[in-house]
Amino acid sequence: MKNLNVGMIGAGGIAKKLAATIEKLDGFTNYAIASRSLDKATAFKNDNYFTKAYGSYEELMEDENVDLVYIATPHSEHHRNMLLALKHHKPVLDEKAFTTNAIEAKDIIARFEKENLFLTEAIWTRYMPSRKIIDDIIKENLIGKISLLEANLCYPNKSHARLNDPNLAGGALLDMGIYPLTFALMALGSYPDKVEATCLKSETGVDETTFMRLSFPSNVEAILYTSMDVSSDRTGYIYGDNGYIKVFNINNPEAIEVHAKDQSLVKRVEIKEDVNGYEYELYACKKALEEGELECPEIPHSDIIKVMELLDEIRRKIDLRYPFER
Ligand SMILES: NC(=O)c1ccc[n+]([C@@H]2O[C@H](COP(=O)([O-])OP(=O)(O)OC[C@H]3O[C@@H](n4cnc5c(N)ncnc54)[C@H](OP(=O)(O)O)[C@@H]3O)[C@@H](O)[C@H]2O)c1
Repeated sequence: MKNLNVGMIGAGGIAKKLAATIEKLDGFTNYAIASRSLDKATAFKNDNYFTKAYGSYEELMEDENVDLVYIATPHSEHHRNMLLALKHHKPVLDEKAFTTNAIEAKDIIARFEKENLFLTEAIWTRYMPSRKIIDDIIKENLIGKISLLEANLCYPNKSHARLNDPNLAGGALLDMGIYPLTFALMALGSYPDKVEATCLKSETGVDETTFMRLSFPSNVEAILYTSMDVSSDRTGYIYGDNGYIKVFNINNPEAIEVHAKDQSLVKRVEIKEDVNGYEYELYACKKALEEGELECPEIPHSDIIKVMELLDEIRRKIDLRYPFER
């Protein structure tokens, strides 16, 4: 396939990071950026060496040279942005959390599937090579039978207006909590049958610090937490009856260690990235598009929906509904 022309909507923080990734990648072009403001789009285009700048999202969707739309807007906007892409028959890579709730996720996935149009979620850890390294350690039975998992992801991000705004589906859970959750789901390869959660809320009413306890049918307990108030070490542990795995930075694994029952180090794997970690979701999109697939095997549509259902369940436990859901 020719170079994949990526069109981004929402000239914010993560769009800038993905643009920096594409800049270093063969096979992809930073083609178009769309913002709600043409001035902002033009500045972003010039700073990041894009070809086109648009002052509305719809104009970008109308550009026949855009091969893949990357949605980099707040969670509250994802469903309507995907509807717009669908209207113009554009394949989509949509940022996490996929939507604000499972109802929106099911609706948009059904619409894309009906139109035979590619759609996936930019939950970058699902696409990373570190996932297979962890899976292989578990399969090799190096740590024995797993019964406990622990993971955290906290960044002191609460000064960011988007994260504090309930109307944009802000809060720690959808922004950061999705990573410890994804870490547990990937390592255990199943979904919990029981969920408990508590949280501390911000003055604006979103979750600022959330603690989750998931019970899996395989008799594994997972303890997960996330916060936009404090910083954490971002570590993930998978504990078995013969030792444990320690993952340094579950948000973008830097190293993976296997320890024996007596805590001694059995093995350490350093993770080397091609660029910065965002490249793998792009590789997956290109491959799926070239092969005519409608989804990525790393995160099939059915799993996107199950994760959104789980996030809904956690939000029920912490009594968090966004204003537009009432
Ligand atoms: N994968 C990752 O590592 C990662 C990291 C950070 C964030 N994310 C995800 O990426 C998405 C965007 O996050 P971000 O940190 O890039 O956010 P951000 O810096 O606030 O940028 C979001 C952009 O969305 C656009 N937008 C559209 N409707 C908006 C509205 N009603 N209010 C505010 N902005 C609006 C704005 O662009 P225009 O003004 O140009 O239209 C804004 O710049 C979220 O889903 C987030 O969870 C992913």
